Amino acid sequence: MQQRSQPAQADSAKVRVEPFSSRGHIGPEEKAAVDEFLERVIESGVLPPYDGEEEFAYCAEFADWLGGGYADAVSSGSAAVYVALKALELEPFGEVIIGAFTDPGGMMPIPLQNLIPVIADSIPNSYCTGPEQIAALIGPLTRAIVVPHIAGEPADMEGIMTLAHQHSIPVIEDCAQAHGARLHGQLVGTFGDLAAFSTMGGKHHSTGPQGGVVFTRDEARYQAVRRASDRGKPFFLPPGSSNVTASLNFNLNDLAATIGRVQLRKLPASVERRRAIVGQLRAGLADLAVVSLAPPRPGYESSYWFLPVHFHPEAASCDKATFCAALNAEGLLVMSDYRPGMPHSQEWFVKRRVFGNSGYPWASPDYKGDPNRHFACPNAHAMIESHFNLMLHENWDSQEIEDAIAIFRKVAGAFAAV
Ligand SMILES: Cc1ncc(COP(=O)(O)O)c(C=O)c1O
Repeated sequence: MQQRSQPAQADSAKVRVEPFSSRGHIGPEEKAAVDEFLERVIESGVLPPYDGEEEFAYCAEFADWLGGGYADAVSSGSAAVYVALKALELEPFGEVIIGAFTDPGGMMPIPLQNLIPVIADSIPNSYCTGPEQIAALIGPLTRAIVVPHIAGEPADMEGIMTLAHQHSIPVIEDCAQAHGARLHGQLVGTFGDLAAFSTMGGKHHSTGPQGGVVFTRDEARYQAVRRASDRGKPFFLPPGSSNVTASLNFNLNDLAATIGRVQLRKLPASVERRRAIVGQLRAGLADLAVVSLAPPRPGYESSYWFLPVHFHPEAASCDKATFCAALNAEGLLVMSDYRPGMPHSQEWFVKRRVFGNSGYPWASPDYKGDPNRHFACPNAHAMIESHFNLMLHENWDSQEIEDAIAIFRKVAGAFAAV
């Protein structure tokens, strides 16, 4: 493979003069709702505490969107995973299997609760783990499974739940990146025992800059969630009970919930639009040899938080990083690899920095597994090497879609294999 010395965009003028649009997903509807909320606050002279009317309404609407059940709005997606895990009331030093790709905030709650993360490889050509990869790790110490749906792609929850039921292991779905994704028509978040969502500003729907939701269809689990998300308060327990477990205050608030309620109404259309945009990109890039998109899997409907793109070095005169730099120089937002998406390769995990320098929970004599166990994850590493991530959003207009395709075609032409 011969490297070109000039970046592709130096060959000719840029495809787009204007930068791609910023997402613009907060608009007059959210402003009106927030104005109305603040007017009520000013009129009453009282700022509602957490657990206010807007928060309860948001939770009810969120649960309705998932077809019924119970939702608890919390302060972040990391908090949602923490609370969901805590609500399982696991004894310390058990193992929790988790997919290799997630946000650090999706994995850190495991060791923070003195549980040992056991890292499951991805399925080939995906950021999501699967039943085969999880099955290989189930052992006598396994206490729970956390399944992150990455990039908007649903993991094989049917296979994972069959496996989990066989072993009576509870499952938490991490839907932070996959609001509105479906598997055989069923929304992700409704397969597992519990689900955690992040609703920070960049997600499919947001409660403002920060937020999260824990969802479950099981009332008793919901009650445990409520206690876990608010300092162990004795919610749903007999009068006179006192705080039953140590936790933090992970509550959301009414201002955030006001925004979330409007955003939730926009969510289905926004997911549909992302799918339509990817459909057009798929058609426009289909004949390129240097990049390809994973063929749609029947029954799997991604909500495309971002779009993983397979780079084929044999069809290019440059490497993946150079190709991505050229796309970025043309104004597309591209991440040349998803190394940051693999928390178990980060310093905190490698050096076991959770509780000072103790090495706990791995180093505890109460942990009966191998504290130095290595997780090779060959599929996950291959995915990082072979793919890059294209950031897109639901408010791309048709010109932006055409331009994105034109940019890919231009860069592919400039770096065609020689
Ligand atoms: C899969 C996953 N889990 C958890 C989180 C943590 O969410 P937050 O940033 O809201 O804490 C994220 C954030 O992007 C995520 O992608």
